[in-house]
Amino acid sequence: MNTRTTEEVASTIRAAVQAAVWAPSVHNTQPWSFAVDGEELALRADSDRKLRLSDAMGREMLISCGAALMNIRLTLRALGWEPQVRVLPDPDRPALLATVRMGEAVTADEHTRMLHAEIERRRTHRAGFTELPVPDRLVEALVSQAGAEGVRLTPVRSEAAVRVLAALTCAAQDVQAQDRLFTLEMISWAQPPDSSRKEGVPARGYPREPRPTHPHFAQRDYAHGHPWGSDTDQFNATSTGTVAVLTTSADTREDWITAGQALQRVLLHASAYDVHAAFHTQALETFHLREFLRQELLSGEHPQTIMRLGYTSDDSEGVRRPVTDVLQERRPN
Ligand SMILES: Cc1cc2nc3c(=O)[nH]c(=O)nc-3n(C[C@H](O)[C@H](O)[C@H](O)COP(=O)(O)O)c2cc1C
Repeated sequence: MNTRTTEEVASTIRAAVQAAVWAPSVHNTQPWSFAVDGEELALRADSDRKLRLSDAMGREMLISCGAALMNIRLTLRALGWEPQVRVLPDPDRPALLATVRMGEAVTADEHTRMLHAEIERRRTHRAGFTELPVPDRLVEALVSQAGAEGVRLTPVRSEAAVRVLAALTCAAQDVQAQDRLFTLEMISWAQPPDSSRKEGVPARGYPREPRPTHPHFAQRDYAHGHPWGSDTDQFNATSTGTVAVLTTSADTREDWITAGQALQRVLLHASAYDVHAAFHTQALETFHLREFLRQELLSGEHPQTIMRLGYTSDDSEGVRRPVTDVLQERRPN
């Protein structure tokens, strides 16, 4: 029989939400909200924050929320409670992505504690990596992390396939840059250097003058002609790193939430070994390019994220909305 005090429940759930907000999200849109009712925490998609043009189906929004769900699961377990998760529990409430309850008392294993410790430290990188290769054993461990969530992480070993991914990324970036509405949507999530906004991509999170990797994977143009970006040395390296694609065998809303959980598990495990990820998801926002990748490169699996993994001295700080902005607490009567 578990005995836990009301205060213990409240502080555990608050810690879980505090961790959830540190999940990665497309353009740092943080497309989530949380509601707590007794011992149950609800995770909802905040579709006001969905990218209506580049993510009309909400796929990237649900991947982002799935990553937040992984942080909740890890926090509950790290604090000694087995999470009881129901994904998409109510077909009549599609925005309700998951409910999580505190289950049996458990003792957190070392790996859970390791991943949990990385939640706030992990950062997205937006430039090349140093020449130091990610060891094969670590890449295999990342594949296993994704596999444990039922998702496939495929390291792209063939140079030709890496070139294809790089070329499609550059093509998608160029096509998006031609589209005024698309560009407006993206730059609405780009922060000027002196911004105090707690969302969107900060100017210190990318180089002022990007140096190409070989082959080159285009970055998003968050500065959009402004002299924004960081001048620090951490962005000078030019190695592409290890390219990897996260895929699912089906492509439903549930698969996207699952992909997000797997993504976060991979990123946290990588971060524990000082490996950063750079995302390049532009090609996946264009139906034909995503379909081309699925059929020609990924044996019919549905691509959910494209990443490069590697080493960098990047230590830029992240920004997030405070918990009070995203959490609704129902007070007991
Ligand atoms: C589904 C998804 C797609 C993303 N796509 C890109 C991308 O194409 N380019 C990029 O620079 N970052 C991308 N990101 C990373 C986000 O910009 C990043 O998570 C966010 O700005 C928060 O920063 P942090 O990860 O450093 O905490 C993506 C993240 C997610 C979850």
